[in-house]
Amino acid sequence: MTNGWEESASAWIADMGTDGDFGRQFVLDAPMIGRMRDRGFRRALDVGCGEGRFCRMLAALGIKPVGIDPTEALIRHARQQDPEGDYRIGRAEALDFPDRSYDLVISYLTLIDIPDIRTAIAEMCRVLEPAGTLLIANLTSFNTAGQPDGWVQDADGNPRFSIDHYMEERVEWVQWRDIRIHNWHRPLSTYMSLLLDQGLQLRHFSEPMPVGADPVKAEWHRRVPYFLIMEWQKPAA
Ligand SMILES: C[S@@+](CC[C@H](N)C(=O)[O-])C[C@H]1O[C@@H](n2cnc3c(N)ncnc32)[C@H](O)[C@@H]1O
Repeated sequence: MTNGWEESASAWIADMGTDGDFGRQFVLDAPMIGRMRDRGFRRALDVGCGEGRFCRMLAALGIKPVGIDPTEALIRHARQQDPEGDYRIGRAEALDFPDRSYDLVISYLTLIDIPDIRTAIAEMCRVLEPAGTLLIANLTSFNTAGQPDGWVQDADGNPRFSIDHYMEERVEWVQWRDIRIHNWHRPLSTYMSLLLDQGLQLRHFSEPMPVGADPVKAEWHRRVPYFLIMEWQKPAA
């Protein structure tokens, strides 16, 4: 069954442009980069790298990135944009790398795209060196629990964000502009339990707000934040 990514790839590439979409440009990029700068990271695996924008940002920080993604059209674009880069077809559930081969593993808005999240989180942890860092940006679970309806009008005409069946893990088609893809909803406790079960230690948790964005858009984001950032550390050997 398709997850929509091959069919949506050209619209996705256009949507990202050079600076990324709203969430990346005004909410996530700055704190994600801030957590990696001057930390001495050497070798990073970007799991679900898409068209490679974040790998290019990692390389600019002096961190050597490898990007993997199952969507061939996105990997093709990543290679065109960055011929010196290392981009491979691959899935999070079967990372084709030895144990303990990266000091930084990144999942930038990909947990919601990965069907077998249990195996994928175990794989991300397996390829991390002892004391290595797993940096995650994800959609908030109350946001994915509101899909596909999201904002609706109540009986008085007031906007309400419709969250339902929060505890039920499920996949939904989500659509905007010419992009139509699968997104998984899982309660936050599912992600937290899987990460804790790997023995990882939580070092940072935040719900970042927009900076420098159009104030009207920023206000909608403040009402129902889209994103969270977590940094987890593998225990030293
Ligand atoms: C929302 S995009 C994020 C792309 C990139 N990290 C970024 O922030 O621009 C999600 C990506 O997850 C990829 N993906 C889908 N299923 C996956 C899987 N099983 N393992 C790894 N990546 C997957 C998609 O191909 C897509 O590139």
